[in-house]
Amino acid sequence: MDVGVSKIRNKSHYSIAALFLISLAVTAALLLTGENWSILRERESRKARPPPPLLPSSSPAAGEIKYEGGGGDNETASSCDLFSGKWIYDEAARASYNDGRCSFMMGDYACEKFGRQDLRYRNWRWQPHRCNLPRFNGMALLEKIRGKRLVFVGDSLNRNQWISMLCLIESSLNQSSLQSVVRTDNLFVVEAINYNATIEFYWSPLLVESNCDHPFAHKVSDRVVRITSIEKHARHWNDADIVVFDSYMWWIMPSMTILWGSFESSDAVYKKVQMHLRLYEMALNIWSDWLEINTNRTKTKLFFMSLSPTHTFGERWDVQQHCYNQTEPILNEGYWGVMADRRMMHIVESTIEKLDKRGVRVQYLNITHLSDYRKDAHPSIYKQFYGSLSETQLADPKSYSDCLHWCLPGVPDVWNQILYSYITNS
Ligand SMILES: *[C@@H]1O[C@H](CO)[C@@H](O)[C@H](O)[C@H]1NC(C)=O
Ligand SMILES: *[C@@H]1O[C@H](CO)[C@@H](O)[C@H](O)[C@H]1NC(C)=O
Ligand SMILES: *[C@@H]1O[C@H](CO)[C@@H](O)[C@H](O)[C@H]1NC(C)=O
Ligand SMILES: *[C@@H]1O[C@H](CO)[C@@H](O)[C@H](O)[C@H]1NC(C)=O
Ligand SMILES: *[C@@H]1O[C@H](CO)[C@@H](O)[C@H](O)[C@H]1NC(C)=O
Ligand SMILES: *[C@@H]1O[C@H](CO)[C@@H](O)[C@H](O)[C@H]1NC(C)=O
Repeated sequence: MDVGVSKIRNKSHYSIAALFLISLAVTAALLLTGENWSILRERESRKARPPPPLLPSSSPAAGEIKYEGGGGDNETASSCDLFSGKWIYDEAARASYNDGRCSFMMGDYACEKFGRQDLRYRNWRWQPHRCNLPRFNGMALLEKIRGKRLVFVGDSLNRNQWISMLCLIESSLNQSSLQSVVRTDNLFVVEAINYNATIEFYWSPLLVESNCDHPFAHKVSDRVVRITSIEKHARHWNDADIVVFDSYMWWIMPSMTILWGSFESSDAVYKKVQMHLRLYEMALNIWSDWLEINTNRTKTKLFFMSLSPTHTFGERWDVQQHCYNQTEPILNEGYWGVMADRRMMHIVESTIEKLDKRGVRVQYLNITHLSDYRKDAHPSIYKQFYGSLSETQLADPKSYSDCLHWCLPGVPDVWNQILYSYITNS
């Protein structure tokens, strides 16, 4: 049994690595083409400023949202675990945008545009067991972050979520309003002009420094991680008001090289190691130390997205898990896929717990399980591929399917609905 599992894991590491190289090598190109990022102007003017936000100390416990009267769909105050629930097929559940109607869409997530015919994946609604997810209201969110910076920090899954956030906001404003995109190195900034608010994405897939830090040219055969260094990245997001982190996929490698010293120095020490769990933990410790020392606790709200599960691995006795040609989610509520590594989740969870004891609050948005059901919601072959595909690949679509990222509209919209409820309820 154990042997079987570890074989599966090893095999999946390679398939992830392969897939990842394909998908990540290409994801960024659209960000480079400024023409695709329409610069829109906010025309509406807003009158009153909102009251100042409450301090983070008033935020609810992990996984719990307190709804105050009028706050959510359910007027009676209640608390509820938004992460525990089920997917319900609902013909009437429509996304507020589609991939042709969002000015920020990237080819990586535009499944319909790239040929996906079954669009049922858009009609599944996440239903928490004891309450309803509040409806996403872009204006309410912008009011909440007026004069502030909201920054997504991490890898391409986080970028997937950032794009979803931009599409959701854009679609819930009446006039196609606001926004321009400015890129400075790893930082991509979209501004809601009349709100003086920015919604940003910062590329640092391992959080700490690595040789994959270039937002586009990060395809490397040997991953080199400068595991104790985070400042170069952190100073770009340190003074933000809301920071949403993720980091997972880039740690799953058969081996990585650790660098002690700097990339430039001649006496730097390089060491090839295979313990990705240990490395993950070390990096997260460096990340927590940074937060403990440098975060303004009254100002900055911190979130960490739990890992986004992939569906790159084939069959299990009870369920087909590869995303290619999948049109239905997994409806068995106890389901847990092999690609959602619980050991890595535990590392994040215990890091956050320790940080909490040191007085730094990070909200853990535990979206792994709810996403794991959605083997139908990845782009698979319906996305923009930037390189050309070989005949061998074309003959076996599973070999190049993207089962890591998510179609938009889709699952990341739900992550953002959850994030929205945390931000607007605090
Ligand atoms: C509101 O939530 C409470 C507690 O979960 C539940 O008992 C009640 O039926 C809900 N009301 C509505 C209108 O959904
Ligand atoms: C806009 O917000 C920034 C902080 O993000 C602040 O420094 C600046 O003064 C604000 N500008 C206006 C016009 O409110
Ligand atoms: C958007 O437009 C609709 C109908 O024109 C109007 O009822 C609604 O109040 C507007 N919403 C906002 C936020 O301006
Ligand atoms: C932390 O942020 C608060 C609110 O923005 C500000 O008033 C305070 O001066 C900041 N503290 C430090 C040490 O920068
Ligand atoms: C896709 O799935 C359908 C229904 O499950 C099946 O009939 C079909 O053969 C599959 N196509 C491929 C190319 O695997
Ligand atoms: C996250 O969700 C999983 C599955 O629902 C659960 O097993 C785990 O305990 C949760 N973690 C936290 C910190 O709530």
